[in-house]
Amino acid sequence: MAHRFRRFDRFSQIFFWLLGVGCWVLGVESVKICIICEICVPLKAMNLIKIEDKMEANAVTAKRPEGKVNGQFEPKIVAFLCNWCSYAGADLAGVSRLPSSPNIRVVRTMCSGRVDPAFIMRAFTLGADGVLIAGCHFGDCHYIEGNFKTMRRYELLKLVLRRFGIDERRLRLEWISASEAEKFARISFEFTDQVRELGPLQLKT
Ligand code: FES
Repeated sequence: MAHRFRRFDRFSQIFFWLLGVGCWVLGVESVKICIICEICVPLKAMNLIKIEDKMEANAVTAKRPEGKVNGQFEPKIVAFLCNWCSYAGADLAGVSRLPSSPNIRVVRTMCSGRVDPAFIMRAFTLGADGVLIAGCHFGDCHYIEGNFKTMRRYELLKLVLRRFGIDERRLRLEWISASEAEKFARISFEFTDQVRELGPLQLKT
């Protein structure tokens, strides 16, 4: 299964590279729509995306505890949090000393719309048992419609996960504002329990 993910990842990279070269040859300023998520891909951001991908992959592969603590399975959860709302909410939970799940590894993104589907696939391939995406409420997105695109992408991603034999409950999307520290704390425990019940993610090789 892991090699199928890698192939998907490589295929998407080659696809965007060819798209970029094609647009450069034709003199097109930006790519309007891609088939995965309908999100605009500025041509000049291609290199930036590559650099950021590496950064985020590093965060995902950061040293994590063993999958079992005292004989009980402890899931590894990667949370992509929007900088402007959900990350601030998680920060407020910490400052307010609200307990939140220690199983969550946070990756801060500038918008939930920045979470490329390839990040999620990579997180699962690299050993995450669950992935949480959290962004601003509708109408609060700093980039106007980033979270609408995230919602559409989320629905498509669930279909893709199903095709790879991954339970769609391992992926969760939530809207958490900067003042909703309790909500972040509650969801972190809820999602951890849910993934713990599902057990470790087994990708066939
Ligand atoms: S800025 Fe938070 S979801 Fe777009």
